[in-house]
Amino acid sequence: METWQWVLTWVVALLVVAIIPYLILKYACRKPMSNVWNYLFCIFFFWLWIFAIYETPRKRRERLKKAGVKEGQVIVDLGCGPGRFTTLAAKIVGPEGKVYALDIHPLHTAIVRARIGIGGPKNVSVMHADCCATRLPDKAIDLIFINDAFHEFADKVGCLKEVARILKADGILAIDEHEMKESKFLGIVEGANLFTLVEKEKRLYKFRPLSEG
Ligand SMILES: C[S@@+](CC[C@H](N)C(=O)[O-])C[C@H]1O[C@@H](n2cnc3c(N)ncnc32)[C@H](O)[C@@H]1O
Repeated sequence: METWQWVLTWVVALLVVAIIPYLILKYACRKPMSNVWNYLFCIFFFWLWIFAIYETPRKRRERLKKAGVKEGQVIVDLGCGPGRFTTLAAKIVGPEGKVYALDIHPLHTAIVRARIGIGGPKNVSVMHADCCATRLPDKAIDLIFINDAFHEFADKVGCLKEVARILKADGILAIDEHEMKESKFLGIVEGANLFTLVEKEKRLYKFRPLSEG
């Protein structure tokens, strides 16, 4: 999604989810809104804009590049959600590369499919699956990107084993994790004895597979 499309989406979303209900409530009730309602709407708008400013496509693209996403790579967006990073990643890897967008939630994979269907990049494969059983071939992936999802995975070690199976020996596991305490998070990833931390920037962690044998 380009920046202008993103701005347009936010303007339309604001109209639909906030301004229109606000006007309906205000005029249908035919009396001034109470201070409480005005106050709640102000808070709602405030957080919507904070989120909008913070998460621009440019920032997401930068995060993908910091994670190590490059042209020509085959990558997995694990726990892709509605595909906020998927389409941007697909543009970075380009037609020679490929993105597997995998999520356990059928609504999320349906949204990504729809986004790809209506003019999105064609180098994306959407997979409705658990992160512990991706069905991807052994040692086939250059980079696995997990943004804001690791804390949600029920079987974290099972997921790491699956990642180790599908990741190339020189591949990268990039995890952006804000929800878990760092000590707990690193305890799980390094404790699995499959990956070693090679780089860290804020809460973006990059791991390499430990060589076997
Ligand atoms: C907070 S969302 C983040 C979505 C996306 N990565 C982003 O940054 O916008 C976490 C995602 O992880 C997915 N998820 C949770 N458990 C999963 C599992 N076991 N396997 C695959 N995806 C899972 C959820 O369905 C959800 O879409």
